Formats: sequence, structure tokens, C-alpha cells
Amino acid sequence: MKKYELIADLYDFVAPYRARPDIDFYVDAAKGANGPVLEVGCGTGRVLIPTARAGVDIVGLDLSPDMLGVCRQRLESEPAAVQSRAQLVQADMREFNPSKTFKLVTIPFRPFQHLMTVADQLACLASIRRHLPDDGLLIFDLFNPSLDALVNGPLGEELELEPEFSTPDERRVVRRDKAVSRDRFNQVNQHELLYYVTYPDGREERLVQAFALRYLFRFEAEHLLARAGFEVEHLYGGFDKSAYGSKYPGELIFVARKRAPC
Ligand SMILES: C[S@@+](CC[C@H](N)C(=O)[O-])C[C@H]1O[C@@H](n2cnc3c(N)ncnc32)[C@H](O)[C@@H]1O
Repeated sequence: MKKYELIADLYDFVAPYRARPDIDFYVDAAKGANGPVLEVGCGTGRVLIPTARAGVDIVGLDLSPDMLGVCRQRLESEPAAVQSRAQLVQADMREFNPSKTFKLVTIPFRPFQHLMTVADQLACLASIRRHLPDDGLLIFDLFNPSLDALVNGPLGEELELEPEFSTPDERRVVRRDKAVSRDRFNQVNQHELLYYVTYPDGREERLVQAFALRYLFRFEAEHLLARAGFEVEHLYGGFDKSAYGSKYPGELIFVARKRAPC
């Protein structure tokens, strides 16, 4: 998993990631699950660690050893009780076997959009389904595709959309976002996130995180879930549980219950 190796130690300091208003939403869902939670694509523990702090047993699964390494390091500075509630597994979300079941599986902040094909999406949902009891819940979020951005968004330009940030070891980082291409037939956007890093001794470095994101439209995702054996119970447009469609483009947040496949 090369997508995150260069920037794993910067991830937790990126301003829009720090400001992302989803943590209470996922922690509340985890507390309400009354049982262990599996977080798929847990990354550096942005959501996993607050969940373990809230008293919930949680397994975090991620493909990237670098993201998991940061998460492990962060957990080491948590109290023993928090550490004992969190377990990390390196695995691919398309095929995994943590060998137990969970009341709730979550996929916060769009890891599902790293899956490029319907076959991969169904494989992931099948793996998740195997790890849920009969009425278990799956909660995940996607970005709601903005038609305006798809049609009019600039290509090939480095856009500086957020404030500079710094790390505890005093690197200063400016991050720019470049949309490289939009494949509107396969619904895949190629992106580059460019990290311009200045070290305390003045040395400069440019890191390029290149990745593809597959977008899904609302009804497409609903059909996919039905086909994979899930029934949508709630569809939200924001982490404040506002209704889907109450803001545009907003988020596309699914709360889905395991059911018999259609
Ligand atoms: C945007 S980050 C989200 C991390 C975390 N959930 C959060 O909310 O901050 C996406 C994560 O998905 C993981 N990921 C991408 N493809 C994956 C796959 N096939 N299997 C497991 N994890 C994957 C990446 O390694 C990365 O940590």
C-alpha cells in the first residue's frame, strides 16, 4: 500500500482531517452497539483511539503498515485500559478474517472509495457481512459526488485550499491538491496531494501522494448494499444526522443492517 507510506506521519496534523466533524458520530454509534466494533481502514486511529477511550472494544483493520505504525505509536501513549481495548490487524478490506464477530462494522472517512471495481466492493461487503451477527450494523461514509465539480472542477492545477500546518518535530507543511484526471465512465478521479515540507534546518522536500478515488451515487450504493445483503436504515447528508439532500453536495452516510441477500 504505497498510497499512504510517504505521508503517514503527517496525516494527523492535516488541518481538514483534524477538523473533520465525524468523531462523535462514530464514537456514539460504537457506544450504542453494545459489543465489539470493527473499524475497516482505521488508518492512524483518528476515530479508533477516541472509540477505545470511550470504553468500547475495537479492532482496527488497515492495509497500510505505515498508517498502522502511527496508530500503534499513538496507542502506546494511552492509558493501559485504552490500549487493552484496541487491537490492530494488517489486512485488505476485500478479504479478511479477524476470526470473530462484531456488533458493528464502521468504515470512516471513505476508505471504501479506494475500491475501484464492483467486484472489489462486493468482496469487501461480503467480508464485512461474514463478521456480523444476523442483525449487525454497518456504518460508512462516502463523499456525495458534486456534479458541478465533476463537470467544471479544474484539472492539472495545484490548489492551495487549506492553511499551512506544522508537526511536533517542527516541520512546516503546505499541502496542495491536484485533480489529475476524471474518468466519468468508470467514476474514478485520479488525485495528487502535494506536501511541500520545510525542515527546521531549511531543507525542503516535495512529497506526492497519488491515488484514485471511485465515487458512488446514492442509488448505486443502495443497490450495491441490497445485493450484498444489507438494508439501509438511515441515510444522512452530514454527521449531525441531517437528512440526505438537506445540503449539497454534503456527505453520503449509510447506516445499514445485515439482511438476507436479494
Ligand atoms: C482516508 S484514510 C481514513 C483513515 C481513518 N479511517 C480516518 O478516519 O482517519 C483511508 C485508509 O484506508 C486504508 N485503505 C485503503 N485501501 C485499503 C484496503 N484495500 N484495505 C484496508 N485498508 C485500506 C488506507 O491505508 C488508509 O489508512
